[in-house]
Amino acid sequence: MNFRDLLLKAKNEKFAIPQFNINNLEWAKYILEVCEEEKSPVFLGVSSGAAKYMGGFNVVVGMVRGLIKDLNITVPVMIHLDHATTFELCREAVDAGFDSIMFDGSKLDYEENIKITNEVKKYLKGQLLEAEIGKIGGEEDGLANELMFTTLEEAEDFISKTDIDMLAPALGSVHGIYKGEPNIKTDIMKDISSKTNMPLVLHGGSGIPEETLKKAVQCGITKANFNTELQLGWHEDVLKFVESNKEVYDPRKVISSGEQGLKKVAREYIRILGSGGKA
Ligand code: 13P
Repeated sequence: MNFRDLLLKAKNEKFAIPQFNINNLEWAKYILEVCEEEKSPVFLGVSSGAAKYMGGFNVVVGMVRGLIKDLNITVPVMIHLDHATTFELCREAVDAGFDSIMFDGSKLDYEENIKITNEVKKYLKGQLLEAEIGKIGGEEDGLANELMFTTLEEAEDFISKTDIDMLAPALGSVHGIYKGEPNIKTDIMKDISSKTNMPLVLHGGSGIPEETLKKAVQCGITKANFNTELQLGWHEDVLKFVESNKEVYDPRKVISSGEQGLKKVAREYIRILGSGGKA
């Protein structure tokens, strides 16, 4: 089944496909292993900052394709560019062989966002396209963003003027750690979903309580993104390991001491989103 059909299946059957963001080889390996065990399709989210950290878009594609082959991964995997803010970044990722692109024009004025989204669409060679309207708050690649809610009218207008596969509306979720209880506008989410039939993406999944995530999936979320909680799960176990193994300097032992912590978080989100067994 191709991924476009899979998104529609998720929307109809009310489950969501996870996007787990990767930072390095280990992140990619652990996430692929968990998704294979749970038989969950997955988007491997790669921010441009993370791609740069790993060496570039070609490194990411080569590494992930190599892992899929050597680890015998059979579940559908999309290598997805997360929050590209320029056409140029989208072009580079497409040329390197990414499967899915998010052009994030939310910091541009609205008409400019539509214009560049359409330019990116024209350049694609079959990749999925995600766009953002409104402004998702919080922190991305170390930069703070303000939050601005998306309205139904804006979503309908944007969708009618572009040809996207997924829309990320800003409905109260933020990237990074929440200050206080997340206030997600699931009523607007449900309206946008039912009136446009567009697969919707929830950014800033970390820190959103299980019940709210489940409600968001019922209200039309078909892809939900997680980064921070994976890092926290990994970090907690690494700290414990380092504190009691100060003499260990083999990077493989240090980095992999967080494997189970990270995998536990990913597995939990697959359960909450209902994507296990859907591959
Ligand atoms: P969190 O780090 O808050 O989980 O957000 C991830 C995300 O939305 C990536 O686009």
